[in-house]
Amino acid sequence: MIIRRGGEIPSSEITPYQHYLDRRAFMLAAGAAALGAVLPPRLGAWPRRSDDKLTPYKDVIGYNNYYEFGTDKASPAKLAGGLKTDPWTIEVAGAVKRPGTYSYDDLVRPHPAEERVYRHRCVEGWSMVVPWMGFPLGDLIRRLEPSSQAKYVEFTTLNDPAQMPGQRSNVLPWPYVEGLRMDEALHPLTLMVMGVYGKPLPNQNGAPLRLIVPWKYGFKGGKAIVRIRFTDTQPRTTWNIAIPREYGFYANVNPQVAHPRWSQARERRIGEFFKQDTLMFNGYADQVASLYAGMNLRINY
Ligand code: MTE
Repeated sequence: MIIRRGGEIPSSEITPYQHYLDRRAFMLAAGAAALGAVLPPRLGAWPRRSDDKLTPYKDVIGYNNYYEFGTDKASPAKLAGGLKTDPWTIEVAGAVKRPGTYSYDDLVRPHPAEERVYRHRCVEGWSMVVPWMGFPLGDLIRRLEPSSQAKYVEFTTLNDPAQMPGQRSNVLPWPYVEGLRMDEALHPLTLMVMGVYGKPLPNQNGAPLRLIVPWKYGFKGGKAIVRIRFTDTQPRTTWNIAIPREYGFYANVNPQVAHPRWSQARERRIGEFFKQDTLMFNGYADQVASLYAGMNLRINY
């Protein structure tokens, strides 16, 4: 396989930004102000297949996985509205030069939001194409100055059963924890997300701050992050603790490795009738396959 360096995307895969902008200019106009400084999107720099139409906004914000607000897809939109996301603090801990408890304003606001349209593939077999607003996690990590001990980054979601009714049941071990290897966290595709479709992130999508790692199954993208911890050992992650045989730490989208209970070879794009083939690394192999050179992706699922 030829591995291209990030950014060198064939122009045939790039949807002209103007087309996209025209379709939803009204949304950007309304939302950009609310998000603060919005830089020109880097959309053109990231690959889209010609059939990658944006998933309608109503589906992006109405068909969600967020077990803190119930296990069915409609529950988060119904139940998450009251979650208090302001003020918000994020603890930075572990092997890092600048640990501490940061306000959202101090930690997140210095990073201007840019737009990235990513394929979003859930482990359950459905997918979307979502225009996220965010900034590269690597920019934040560099600001926090992890020490040489930092080999992994762990992300923890809010633990507040009073506000999150799903946490009153033990459907998952709480709080929701996810993690990345440091090189994955520093990869320019990995995004801290504060908005979607040019607007601030709705609570059901993980407001005020969530992670998006587009070449991995969606469960790696923890929502409502309150803690970022740098560590020398692989974090224990929620789905891996709950059902280790089914959900590995890596969770790279891989059509060749079936989930024990279903195939991952194809996916249903929300809003479309026919299934389509799932792509290796969710279509981002050119940019990320080199991170896993020499690794057995069947063992490291
Ligand atoms: N984060 C938390 N805190 N709780 C969750 O249940 N579900 C994950 C991920 N992040 C989840 C979470 C799963 S399985 C997916 S597919 C994505 O969120 C869904 O993100 P979306 O609802 O914005 O599409």
